[in-house]
Amino acid sequence: MRNKVSICACLCAALIFYPAFALAQSRAGNSGNRIENSFPEEELFSLGSYYYPEQWDESQWERDLKKMASMGIAFTHFAEFAWAALEPEEGRYDFRWLDKAVALADSYGLKVILCTPSPCPPVWLSEKHPEILIRRDNGVGIRHSRRQHASWSSACYREYVGKIVTALAERYGDNPAVIGWQIDNEPGHYGVVDYSENAQAAFRLFLKEKYGSIEALNKSWGCAFWSETYQNFDQIRMPNQQEVPEKPNPHAMLDMYRFNASELASFVNFQADVLRSHISDRQWITTNLIPVSSAVDPFLADHLDFTTYTRYLVTGHRDGVGEQGFRLGDPEYLGFSNDQFRNFPGGTYGVMELQPGQVNWGTFNPQPMPGAVRMWVWHVFAGGGRFVCNYRFRQPLRGSEQYHYGMLMPDGLTLSPGGEEYMQVAKEMKELRKSLDRDAAEPAERAARRTGLMYEMSNHWEMENQKQTPQWKTLAHAQKYHNILKKMSCPVDVIGENADFSRFPFLLAPAYQLLDSALVDRWTEYVRGGGHLVLSCRSGQKDRNGALWQELPSAPIYELCGIKGLFYDLLPQNYYGTITLDGKEYKWNNWADVLTPCRGTEVWASYSDQFYAGKAAVTHRRLGKGSVTFVAADSDDGALEEAVLRRLYAEAGVEVENLPYGVIKEWRDGFYIALNYSSQTQSLDIPSDAEVLLGGAEIAPAGVTVWKR
Ligand code: GAL
Repeated sequence: MRNKVSICACLCAALIFYPAFALAQSRAGNSGNRIENSFPEEELFSLGSYYYPEQWDESQWERDLKKMASMGIAFTHFAEFAWAALEPEEGRYDFRWLDKAVALADSYGLKVILCTPSPCPPVWLSEKHPEILIRRDNGVGIRHSRRQHASWSSACYREYVGKIVTALAERYGDNPAVIGWQIDNEPGHYGVVDYSENAQAAFRLFLKEKYGSIEALNKSWGCAFWSETYQNFDQIRMPNQQEVPEKPNPHAMLDMYRFNASELASFVNFQADVLRSHISDRQWITTNLIPVSSAVDPFLADHLDFTTYTRYLVTGHRDGVGEQGFRLGDPEYLGFSNDQFRNFPGGTYGVMELQPGQVNWGTFNPQPMPGAVRMWVWHVFAGGGRFVCNYRFRQPLRGSEQYHYGMLMPDGLTLSPGGEEYMQVAKEMKELRKSLDRDAAEPAERAARRTGLMYEMSNHWEMENQKQTPQWKTLAHAQKYHNILKKMSCPVDVIGENADFSRFPFLLAPAYQLLDSALVDRWTEYVRGGGHLVLSCRSGQKDRNGALWQELPSAPIYELCGIKGLFYDLLPQNYYGTITLDGKEYKWNNWADVLTPCRGTEVWASYSDQFYAGKAAVTHRRLGKGSVTFVAADSDDGALEEAVLRRLYAEAGVEVENLPYGVIKEWRDGFYIALNYSSQTQSLDIPSDAEVLLGGAEIAPAGVTVWKR
């Protein structure tokens, strides 16, 4: 239970920082100006690099920052792990070193992003208030050391965070060299769920607020099943596999994920409010998130000016495209995130950390292919990003990331291959600026293909918790569609439900399991107005709290899709079912919804084996001025899904391209940008009237080609 002292501390913190809440209201209007001031459109793109003055001999700072500036890097990034150096003892701040570092950066023309040091509370704080530390599911309390060890639900921790953030904001909030602030670093506990008493108490408050009465919670969680029925909220603990013999209650799990995301967002928003009440109106506020991490719902952190993400593509975890793909990364890794982060509050994004070369923490840690670091930066540019900040300038000599490359080799003098590539991009961007046409409009053939792809974390959490088959992968399902759209050279926006669907001629909602009638009504209105909607398997199975409907399976989408029945089937691994579409056979393996269409609904594809051979696997119906297509199976290779999308776009009269997987083609600010993540040299179809500004029609692995028409 949240004790009185914590509640009191919480109220005090809220009162101390109250003016911030009011100020947050004016935030939205100024965000655009702040971002534009730091990253003017005519400069196209900025490069930055992390530097840790507290980790290096003071006599080297000037040499290092001077070198950074000479490479064409525009800004540096300080302090996210430096709480112990900034406040060596409670209430005794030491800003001398940071003052000096900021001034040095400024003297070489480097702008500065300052970061709040909340991921690393110092030892004196953990010692004085051990109750701020998180607790694992197995009951083991996390001790001081490393990072991300304090609980967002601890009012005491928030109070201390409020004080250090205020002190930093008061000191640097007017400093013209400081362009903006990052809150925390990759907020999240790196996969650990916090089961501390602070979190347990906050979870109960969250539930009380959501359900109002214990009866309502019992009903929503289906507590009558196995006598889970609670008498009051104080009896509830966060669902925890270590505390129960069976899998925890799925509705409690969904609520816990929502709670974790809301705690994290409120922690980020709290810091944003503190900063905003002290800093100049000119400075912006962001945070950096790990994309599609189960702890985060970025739509909730809405007190920021914009959101950034961090990405490491070559870590041995993923195969990439072709034999050398492990040195290049998967194209969707940056591509999906670019298309998603552009659509979070603020409407723009940057990449706060990007791999500079070999890392130390992968499954194995290969060298990236020469050119890959450069290609990744160009990919962020191609997605419309404002900047890339590489992690990090110098390779650490000690500590957890000894084997992690930086822009410089361990001698602190010689450029690493990644450093050389950053320098190259800086020069290339400078050159490209000369060709910028600020009035360039998106080419009509691309606008006609613009596709919204809906991805919401509640669906993600729910399906990952109840997969029904180990072959089900929620993100991979959506990214398979994303990859197909990129092969077709469609501009894609990965959106949430707050988006205006009418911006998109095509709208995909892959595996949209949780919905309500309001969303189905919006989809219906979108389609009647001329939009083409694509749904895929698992859609519409449950209500927002994860309950099945007291109707036929997925009944709320029947009318929209023109179907009247549905069941699902799953297969063993390495056993494939078949589907026939336009006379061609396709394989499926992961999931199949088997559909009964209504009269008038077209059947584009049918299952051709199993006991339901002849039943519909893909349906299509026209409704109003638009159409609804239901792709009811999930394949491994995406061939079926690709054939359906190609037919849909063709029937809608929209021409698409056929790029090989791994070749990405984007357009921004008048420039076409092509990248090659595949292991082979590829040929690009560049119109004869185009002006090629970088690279050429033959694009090697890790290559970049830019042209203009
Ligand atoms: C990031 C993290 C950085 C650093 C980096 C190493 O995820 O935010 O602080 O640890 O990984 O690759």
